[in-house]
Amino acid sequence: MAIRETWATRIGFILAAVGSAVGLGNIWRFPFLTAESGGAAFLVAYLFLVAVIGLPVMLVEFVIGRESKQNVVDAFPEIGAPTWKFIGAIGALAGFVILSYYSVVGGWVIQYMVGSLTGGYAGNAEAFFGSAAEGTNALAYDLLFMAIVAAIVSFGVRDGLERAAKVMIPSVVGLLVLLAAYGATLSGASEGYAYYLSPDLSTLVGDAIALLPDAAGQAFFTLSLGMGVMITYASYLGEDRNMLRDSLLIVVVDTSIAILAGLAVFPFLFAQGVDPGTGGVGTTFVGLASAFGSLPAGQVVGFVFFAMLFLAALTSAFSILEVIVSFTIDTFDVDRKPATVAIAAVIFLVGVPTAMSLDYLTLYDAIANRILLIGGGLLLAIFGGWFYASGAREELQKGMPGGETLTTAWIWILRIPVVLVLAYVLYTGIIEVAGIV
Ligand code: PHE
Ligand code: NA
Repeated sequence: MAIRETWATRIGFILAAVGSAVGLGNIWRFPFLTAESGGAAFLVAYLFLVAVIGLPVMLVEFVIGRESKQNVVDAFPEIGAPTWKFIGAIGALAGFVILSYYSVVGGWVIQYMVGSLTGGYAGNAEAFFGSAAEGTNALAYDLLFMAIVAAIVSFGVRDGLERAAKVMIPSVVGLLVLLAAYGATLSGASEGYAYYLSPDLSTLVGDAIALLPDAAGQAFFTLSLGMGVMITYASYLGEDRNMLRDSLLIVVVDTSIAILAGLAVFPFLFAQGVDPGTGGVGTTFVGLASAFGSLPAGQVVGFVFFAMLFLAALTSAFSILEVIVSFTIDTFDVDRKPATVAIAAVIFLVGVPTAMSLDYLTLYDAIANRILLIGGGLLLAIFGGWFYASGAREELQKGMPGGETLTTAWIWILRIPVVLVLAYVLYTGIIEVAGIV
């Protein structure tokens, strides 16, 4: 076997992982889900889960990837746990489902880039979303988005994407800060902040518990967890790296961008008197488009914003397709280009219903985030906490001298709280999806 390349620099791995994490999950999914779920209590549940569940599961993926130096499926046999291979298969399945509708939302972003230049959404944000989101427009741009992702994966231009992430992340942050600052001057701002940031303390605990399942789905989705992306990326990682420090950085960047997206979106929703509970998957796009419609030089700012969001979506979509392709190449001994084209075509076909109807998009989203990623995360926690604990501890401690207490705490967090919460979330997810179908 060829010697596996490792990331040339610390920043290479961080950029790739952050590029995967930061995407539509932060800027589209987080604000609309928070709006729909009642605001601040959801934010609290989400932050709690990112720290207590997301971070520990990310470390399991890092440990498995770095020790095995393999793709999601071969990783398990490599570290002496062949029976756990099916985690990789669930991950690949999750990737199929996620990318099939992620590319539809990616297509919306392209339509908004065009709409910024042509003034298509200025003054009629609702109507523009309506014509962009479902039907033949959505399908055509879905295909375009998939074709771009497939081209990037088949040429294997990871470096290009890392460079793109380097530009994209500061630009996204800068633009969100700008929007949030502008939003702060609007008359609806304080109402928006109250909804988003100040929970009703008398009901907070109960509310947050009721919102745990959705918040857990969001935590996994936004951090790219539960399907092996982080296993794959960490498989190129050198042994001297402190993975706890890396994971903290990734989590903090991803979470900050989501919070910032909320700060940008909520004032606009309230300024326009949109009922945040009813907007559904369109909430973010409608809110942002009306922001750009009223902003000075909004066409230019809007275009730049959606262009950066497009890059953010591409680096995430790339990571999903790359996981599936690299496992297919290694397993079936096929060439990268035909494998990529065939897989992308199947994913596109699987996603056709989600482009034609928002109901399907919502269904696929629930299957992915409430069942597949959570199921993958649960299995990873059981594996890392119970079956592979000593190997996992040893691997994490490399590059982290003197970390015994921390790694012990990590194992126990995985063993009990993570396993219990994810089992509960999985159970509610199965009931929920069964109710939709
Ligand atoms: N984390 C990405 C986002 O927030 C989505 C994603 C999910 C990427 C799962 C990879 C795997 O947009
Ligand atoms: Na994210």
